[in-house]
Formats: sequence, C-alpha cells, structure tokens
Amino acid sequence: MHNGHEGAKTPQQLYASLSRLDSSYTPAACAQYAQWIDEIRALKQERNAVVLAHNYQRPEIFAVADFIGDSLELARQAKQVAADVIVFCGVHFMAETAKIVNPERTVLLPDLRAGCSLSASITAEALADRKERLRRAYPDLQVVCYVNTTADVKAESDVCCTSANAVKVIDALDSQHILFVPDENLARYVQTQTTKTILSWEGNCYVHHHITPEQILAVRRNLPHVKVLVHPECRADVIQLADAVLSTSAMVRYAKESPAQEFLIVTECGLSDRLFLEVPEKKFYKSCKLCAYMKMITLEGVLTSLREMRYEITLPEDVRVGAERSLNRMFELSA
Ligand code: 13P
Ligand code: SF4
Repeated sequence: MHNGHEGAKTPQQLYASLSRLDSSYTPAACAQYAQWIDEIRALKQERNAVVLAHNYQRPEIFAVADFIGDSLELARQAKQVAADVIVFCGVHFMAETAKIVNPERTVLLPDLRAGCSLSASITAEALADRKERLRRAYPDLQVVCYVNTTADVKAESDVCCTSANAVKVIDALDSQHILFVPDENLARYVQTQTTKTILSWEGNCYVHHHITPEQILAVRRNLPHVKVLVHPECRADVIQLADAVLSTSAMVRYAKESPAQEFLIVTECGLSDRLFLEVPEKKFYKSCKLCAYMKMITLEGVLTSLREMRYEITLPEDVRVGAERSLNRMFELSA
C-alpha cells in the first residue's frame, strides 16, 4: 500500500514529473490538472472524504489519492476508513467491495462505465447452476471467487480471493475440489501452485489475455538480463516466461527491493507508469495494454463526483451480507 498526496503539486512540478511519461502531459494540461487537484483537495475536506485508487489509475489521479494499492490492499483499507465518504478510483467491483466491507460509508464511483470484462463473464445464476451440477460429482466442492466479481457472485461463493492471496486461500480450505471463478488463466496458474483439484470457469481479462509470449520474447532477445514480472491473469504461455508472477502491488515491492536494475512489466500499463514515476533510478520496459475501464476515471470525473456526490454504490442488504461473509472468510484465511 502506498500513501498518496506525495510528489507534484504546482503546475510546474506536475509537468516536470508527468511529461516524462508521454507527450499528452503538456504545460497547459498540467496547469488544468493542478487546478482540479486543488479543487478536489478542498472538496475532500468539506465532505470528509478519502480517495482510494487502484495501481492502474491515471498518474494524475495519484495526486489526490489517500491510498494507492492492489485489490487486496484496497479492500483492507476500505474496511478501516473512518471518513464519511469513499471516492473509489478503480472499477465497479472494487467500489462495490468497499461498500460491502464498510456499509456505513457513502461510496462513490466517479464513472459507472468503469466495469470489468472479467467480472462480466459470470452471473450469480450461472454460478448457482454450475455449482449444483458439480456438487453431484464432487460433494466436497467449494467455490472460490476472484475479487473481480459482482457482489451477488461473491454471495454465491464460499470464499473470495485476490491475485495476492489466491494460492494461500485455496490451500487453507479443507476441500480437495475447488471451483475457481471466473478467471481461467488465474485458475490454471493456481493449479501449478497447489495439490488441490481446480475446476475453472470460462472467463478472462481482455487486457491480460491479449498479451502474447512473442511480445515478451522480443524484449528478452535484446535485453536477456531483464527481470520479467507477470500478472497471474496472463495466459499460461506468458506466465511460463516470468521471473516472478505477482499482484500489482507485489510487482512494485519486487521492483523496489530487487537488486536488479531493469524490469519488463507484464500487466496493465498504469503499473509501469507508477513504477516509472516512483522508482526513477531503475529502468522499466512495458509489455502492456491499457484497461479502458480503469481509464474511464479522470480527475475531472473525480471532481464532479465529489461536487455532486455521484455515483453512489448501493446494494440489497441480503446480497451485501452474503458477499461480506465471502470477503471476511478471505481476510481470515489469508491473514
Ligand atoms: P491486482 O489485485 O493485482 O491489483 O489486480 C487487479 C486487476 O484488476 C488486475 O487486472
Ligand atoms: Fe478487469 Fe482486466 Fe481491467 Fe483488471 S485489467 S479491471 S481484470 S478488465
């Protein structure tokens, strides 16, 4: 977990920092961002709000974030928030998770188009049906859902997990047969790390699934010493080429702590941007793709969200309680 509010504040500081990433960060764009950042900070105080941001967010969002992290860290953080309002800079299932674990707070998602292809690949009804059929063959079956799912899918599952704790959670269960939903790539990866029998769903993340081994090999050919860090939502033939398979925040820790100087970051591009800004003394190459859902969240959107208190995440209480059970079991098993 990284605390935000560090780094650039004035238009000149913002420009000096962000223009290193790409040419869209012009002096004029950075002046506008600096103004929005000031307005957001004032509104946060007025509303008693905190901003939680996922590692894939736009770099200018990090300037208003109180916490930046991976899905597990953000879920843990959301549980502890004492402020009245949580503005979630991430995708819908993440904001929903914040509401599940901290229902007393108002949770805002600045743009409702911020969905997730993986979370959209499964419904609670389809899961209930598959679970019932599989339990006839495997009476001990337990359902583990990835956090990238809607609240009603979490409520239909026995326990939730994230990329940071999937193996730990599955190993801690007392069943041999596990239905892991919905990411087929993560299911395949977990199978290589456990003696449990993993049955998978047919879902994937459109960002990670489209990264190919050829892209990795092309970089490795020219830079054989580069450390390849891969997210476990990638395909098995990409994971095979990894030096380490890690959640987004684990990649940040690895890059900071490793004696290696050069890394190939194989995940959504926001993560390499974060590393590029935070660890300037090391070199980061990208084999990445943008997540259009994550990039729906903009600074202007955060400002409007706080001004108009939109879009509020709400859940039927029975679904929330069911999903909370699944998340709490994850917190217990991965503590
Ligand atoms: P992390 O939990 O590793 O941050 O992953 C979230 C996600 O959506 C990856 O695509
Ligand atoms: Fe979903 Fe993939 Fe985007 Fe993560 S990167 S939010 S899994 S679509």
